[in-house]
Amino acid sequence: MIFNRIAITALLAAAATAALADNALPPYLDDSLPAEQRIEDALTRMTLDDKIALIHAQSKFSTPGCPRLGIPEIWMSDGPHGVRVEFDWDEWQSAGWTNDSCTALPALTCLAATFNPELAGQYGNVVGEEARFRKKDIILGPGVNIYRTPLSGRNFEYTGEDPVLASRIVVPYIKGLQQNGVSACMKHFALNNQEHNRDAVNVIVDERALNELYLPAFRAGVTEGGVWAVMGSYNKYKGTYCTHNDTLVNEILKKQWGFDGVFITDWGSAHDTREAALNGLDIEMGSWTNGLTWGKSNAYDDYYMAEPLKRLVRSGEIDEKVVDEKARRVLRLCLRTNMNRQRPWGSMHTPEHLAVAREVAREGIVLLKNEKCFLPLRDGTRIAVIGENAVKSLTKGGGSSELKPRVEISPLQGIRERFGEKNVTFSLGYASGEPNYSNELPSPYDADSLRVAAIETARNADVVIFIGGLNKNYRQDCEGEDRATYDLPFGQNELIAAIREVNPRTAVVIVSGNAVAMPWAEKVPAIVQSWYLGSMGGPALADILSGDVNPSGKLPFSIPVNLTDCAAHAFGESAYPGVDGNVRYEEGLLVGYRWHDTRRIPARYPFGHGLSYTAFRYSDLATDKKEYAPTDTVTVTMTLENKGKVAGAETVQFYAAQKAPRLPRPAKELKGFAKTSLAPGEKKTVTVTIPVADLAYYDDTLRRWIVDDDEFTILAGASSTDIRGKAVFKTSSYSSLADNKRLP
Ligand code: BGC
Repeated sequence: MIFNRIAITALLAAAATAALADNALPPYLDDSLPAEQRIEDALTRMTLDDKIALIHAQSKFSTPGCPRLGIPEIWMSDGPHGVRVEFDWDEWQSAGWTNDSCTALPALTCLAATFNPELAGQYGNVVGEEARFRKKDIILGPGVNIYRTPLSGRNFEYTGEDPVLASRIVVPYIKGLQQNGVSACMKHFALNNQEHNRDAVNVIVDERALNELYLPAFRAGVTEGGVWAVMGSYNKYKGTYCTHNDTLVNEILKKQWGFDGVFITDWGSAHDTREAALNGLDIEMGSWTNGLTWGKSNAYDDYYMAEPLKRLVRSGEIDEKVVDEKARRVLRLCLRTNMNRQRPWGSMHTPEHLAVAREVAREGIVLLKNEKCFLPLRDGTRIAVIGENAVKSLTKGGGSSELKPRVEISPLQGIRERFGEKNVTFSLGYASGEPNYSNELPSPYDADSLRVAAIETARNADVVIFIGGLNKNYRQDCEGEDRATYDLPFGQNELIAAIREVNPRTAVVIVSGNAVAMPWAEKVPAIVQSWYLGSMGGPALADILSGDVNPSGKLPFSIPVNLTDCAAHAFGESAYPGVDGNVRYEEGLLVGYRWHDTRRIPARYPFGHGLSYTAFRYSDLATDKKEYAPTDTVTVTMTLENKGKVAGAETVQFYAAQKAPRLPRPAKELKGFAKTSLAPGEKKTVTVTIPVADLAYYDDTLRRWIVDDDEFTILAGASSTDIRGKAVFKTSSYSSLADNKRLP
């Protein structure tokens, strides 16, 4: 009897194990196995059709996965300042959902202006959490194209003119986002530095500038940020579209930097099946053509990387292994995102998200000028707020980064809440048309009446806060076309002059993602560079104007006096906007402050400039040694003291200048920075480390990075021109630099 019971139990156990074995997960679904093994297993189960399906769109923002194998669809969304609204399956129009709002974070220029990498990590995390909640697998951002001209329509979505600043911001953004199991898609690779003729322009740039300025932030995003996806740009480099450019994608991105993620088109940036297949493109999105007819809807089978590619594989002209490699990368992305059972659930509209949005906004706002402590405004001051940007929704417009925020508090509302309704009057002053990105819509208001009303409002107040700038309408910081001029639009310069006449106590707040001409700069007591600040823009601006928060933002780009003082505009049309389809970056390495400093053309406000309501004293700048080998790291220290009566934060910038370089170099280059908060009277030691390898320049003849045996000076500055301390050291034996693994 006992024997029988044991026998039966054993039989049952064996049956259960067998059943389990039958139900065992196939290796590609078994997350106890190594990812690469799972990917190879999935590939063996896929037909050519399955693999081809993985590598092109099925709708405006998704790819189909492999339903037969339970491999999920991949859902994408813009990016980069929050999660965009849902779109119709196959049309460029909002789907009209009511549950697709988001927290709008400040634009990336503002994030760059914080000079705060930790905050960049929190920013990425907010976008990641909301993307995850909205069931997105890829966020199309961040953008890290270098700011070359203040006319470029998309600078507001990028991180400024300096590659070190851009790199230090983009890496934590990517990590913060991807920790949610949502991929970042760094864009637009590469050289998308203008919107004018973006679909076709061929960029001619020397290899030094390419390597020293235009690629480093992308490289950092890949090698340090570990980004899982990269988007190609619309323009060309060396005559070939960047989206299927062998040098950029195969050689640099995938081979040199070891990128193992997916390389995605910009929407509609693929132009040729063979090139796309062979030159490293992994996913094709947004094409509107079968190669013959433009604007064909539901043309997914006609995509370059759909039926046309299948035909080339079937005919043996392209090896199926080429498709396998693309599918492998897509599957790797799936394991990192939608097939990762461990990924968090995400969250939406949390108070923490709004708090991050507000913190980024107030840390990014830059106080450009503050004569006789005009700001902060004292309580009880009668304030006239004038200008359309005090009330206009600036999360709208701009192109693909447009957002539908659940909360958006305008500057006027923020100022009223802080200073009291009764102390704040408002007048529109000027007006623009509705946001639109293909032409300029006229304003419905009469300009003269608006001006007369604004002047009356200004006359009757203690101070005027003029809130103007650009507005993300067509040619006013918007994708698809550049700004038409450096000047402010809608007669704002004249309006500011007229307001000043009746009330000289007029401060100007510029809302923009670009430098603008400021012919009135000498005549107004205070200027604030605000940005597209997102959901909490109003309260953040009020925090700064009231002094509840001490401004600490620094300019991520130079503000030239005249447009021709900017390098891209100093060489005629061939350098901008281009001639015969080519744009030549004649200024080479001398972009932004590198140009202003080296050519001694002062900017109105230099890169890195930003005032505080307190004053900081810099002292004791020193390096830990006097001479360094190529593999060493320079440790720079200095003392920073808050000499004023209020707490504040200062970003000390560390620039390097080389004494006698073998190849010409800019007068100085940013190598590191540190933001430090100090109570009144407090002193702290500020430390940054700079690997000697980061002092290298790119020798385009030898095609390698070199650090000369030479003398270097580290300059500690409150901006690129306000240098407060210097320390000198030497580097030695560059010939052994080949051993330095940090060099790309
Ligand atoms: C933009 C991309 C964007 C894509 C999808 C393109 O027009 O250049 O930045 O991610 O559209 O909306």
